Amino acid sequence: MFQFFLEFLKSPRNIGAVAPSGAFLAKKMMKPIRFEWAKCIVEYGPGTGIFTRELIRRKKKGAKLLLIEQNESFFRKLKERYEGHEGVLIVNGSAEYVKEYMEQYGMESVDYIVSGLPFTSLPVRTSEQILTATRKAIGAEGRFLTFQYSMAKKKFFQQYFHIADCLFELRNLPPAYVLVMRQKPGKSNSNR
Ligand SMILES: C[S@@+](CC[C@H](N)C(=O)[O-])C[C@H]1O[C@@H](n2cnc3c(N)ncnc32)[C@H](O)[C@@H]1O
Repeated sequence: MFQFFLEFLKSPRNIGAVAPSGAFLAKKMMKPIRFEWAKCIVEYGPGTGIFTRELIRRKKKGAKLLLIEQNESFFRKLKERYEGHEGVLIVNGSAEYVKEYMEQYGMESVDYIVSGLPFTSLPVRTSEQILTATRKAIGAEGRFLTFQYSMAKKKFFQQYFHIADCLFELRNLPPAYVLVMRQKPGKSNSNR
């Protein structure tokens, strides 16, 4: 908790929140995932690992989980905690390069991308690049899940994805929406 706040003070736009998400939101983020079926899951911005813990606990044996964290001190913590766990791969890098990391680890397609990224505070250009890369990564069948504290970015996401579902978690500080997105028909390989 203290480490999270410290990192927020150093880089408020990239961290985007003063404290990690709570356990109720973590569980809500897991709800749309069919773990019995998922072979490849990617997490963007795991931070101190509140969603990671649930993903590792629930993923089936043999499924890969690729964690992409840009912040170096969170990355080091994640490595200390999760390196060596079956199927878990940890990268210190940016979500924009998800396709490159997938290639590096022999992942052809991804079933779910779970995002903790602060799209409201990230530079628009960075968000655009991440969403373009995400659209390519999830292909025709994958799902992209993200949480948001408001629906202000709904239209922005809709430029890239079809919003298939929207859940709400009141027991988080602040309460949050979980958006479940998938490919718009015929859009998996275009740039916008
Ligand atoms: C709001 S915090 C969420 C942390 C955690 N998922 C949670 O819900 O408590 C945002 C996280 O995204 C990371 N981040 C920001 N930009 C990123 C990027 N381009 N690629 C990967 N991680 C990024 C930050 O370092 C931080 O760990």
